[in-house]
Amino acid sequence: MDSMAVFLSLLFSSFFSILIFFLFRSSSFALRKLRLPPGNLGLPFVGETLQLISAYKTENPEPFIDERVARFGTLFTTHVFGEPTVFSADSETNRFILQNEGKLFESSYPSSISNLLGRHSLLLMRGSLHKRMHSLTMSFANSSIIRDHLLIDIDRLVRLNLESWSDRVFLMEEAKKITFELTLKQLMSFDPCEWTESLRKEYVLVIEGFFTIPLPFFSTTYRRAIQARTKVAEALSLVVRRRRGESERGERKNDMLEALLDGDGGGGGFSDEEIVDFLVALLVAGYETTSTIMTLAVKFLTETPLALAQLTEEHDEIRAKKGESEPLTWNDYKSMPFTQCVVNETLRVANIISGVFRRAMTDVNIEGYTIPKGWKVFVSFRAVHLDHDHFKDARSFNPWRWQSNSGATSSGNVFTPFGGGPRRCPGYELARVELSVFLHHLVTRFSWVPAEEDKLVFFPTTRTQKRYPINVQRRNVSNPCKE
Ligand code: HEM
Repeated sequence: MDSMAVFLSLLFSSFFSILIFFLFRSSSFALRKLRLPPGNLGLPFVGETLQLISAYKTENPEPFIDERVARFGTLFTTHVFGEPTVFSADSETNRFILQNEGKLFESSYPSSISNLLGRHSLLLMRGSLHKRMHSLTMSFANSSIIRDHLLIDIDRLVRLNLESWSDRVFLMEEAKKITFELTLKQLMSFDPCEWTESLRKEYVLVIEGFFTIPLPFFSTTYRRAIQARTKVAEALSLVVRRRRGESERGERKNDMLEALLDGDGGGGGFSDEEIVDFLVALLVAGYETTSTIMTLAVKFLTETPLALAQLTEEHDEIRAKKGESEPLTWNDYKSMPFTQCVVNETLRVANIISGVFRRAMTDVNIEGYTIPKGWKVFVSFRAVHLDHDHFKDARSFNPWRWQSNSGATSSGNVFTPFGGGPRRCPGYELARVELSVFLHHLVTRFSWVPAEEDKLVFFPTTRTQKRYPINVQRRNVSNPCKE
């Protein structure tokens, strides 16, 4: 049923957009005079969507971009997901687009996604409200907050999770569980319990809705996601209401929800509905991304034994100076130079967020071409991260490249896994810390081998097909160096 829905939806949305495009192109003299970036609009209705999907469903989607860059250059026009889209594979153009958020371009999500996120989500906010809420989010996840408040719980929850592992785990599942528990703790001070686990089950259904075709009539997954979204919102509303009462009585907690309830702390004045939407968006933004980066770091390390050995040595040295279950400190985190190389390289090669969509707010002239008002633009981080001009031997996993300098062979802002401009990911440091702590406990506690061969694919999201099953073996933690 879902593949039928995919097809019908593509047909439906593509039909209207392509009709509008051709009407626009043939009837508007002004537009005909515009110099569009060169490219190919592909087949009627579907454009080049099917080529893109079939490329991104493989381990090597690069030919889709490579072929078009070779033919048309780093700024080209295509037609994907129902709309003509200008695709940027150029770091300077990407920077220009991201920096001009709210002036020349604005972020744009289809209504199916907005429905699941909730209309008061940070991802959908614009203008001064966005600025204020983005900086509030930054202030909840910045380095000093992580150092002084969050790190201790990250360490404890990661450790607790790993201690409960059986001999065979699906790493992606475990990483998701960890990430969800961490986020709930950070946002609302909840420790894992039956309530958090049942919330997670509903929440998983919401997430599935993001990656399906949003036709409620055809797609049971989307229908289920909308229902689950209502249940998640109801559960969170109860929490917000209770906490509002506590906060008014002076019982304060040190978490994101408090900041949202607190009139003096940058938040305040928000309705329960606004707060719930905000919390749901934060849960969404950090969940799939951080758990995937955890899984892929392990996959890449497993396939690069020398890197795994060096990483393990770094963490064994840190652990050897501490008690078996003594938590990691900020100083420990700051003494993991090779881990940071692994984190950077995983972000660069994996491209969890391969790029972001924007919409032109006015006709925009770039590189001698015009992007017409209302057109969609795709800012591809992936194309830049995997460009040989910027990174030597760009398509292989080589954490050592980050040891000597910025990792890049060219200057400029070419490493942007967390985006840029006013919408740059506010969770960038948090994600790095969570991944580093996870790697620490994993390599000091376990050795592992893949239980099955598993393939990395990039559509509908970056993921491994089988959730990366591994067979794990406990190491002698009390003295890991003497194995
Ligand atoms: C490896 C993990 C992560 C990656 C690769 C990642 C990547 C990104 C990227 C590329 C954007 C920019 C989107 C855009 O420009 O439209 C973004 C936005 C965002 N991220 Fe992350 N992220 C990660 C983890 C997190 C975490 C842990 C949080 C939790 C605080 C988070 C919260 C957000 C939020 C709230 C936004 C929206 C910002 C806005 O629109 O102003 N992310 N992320």
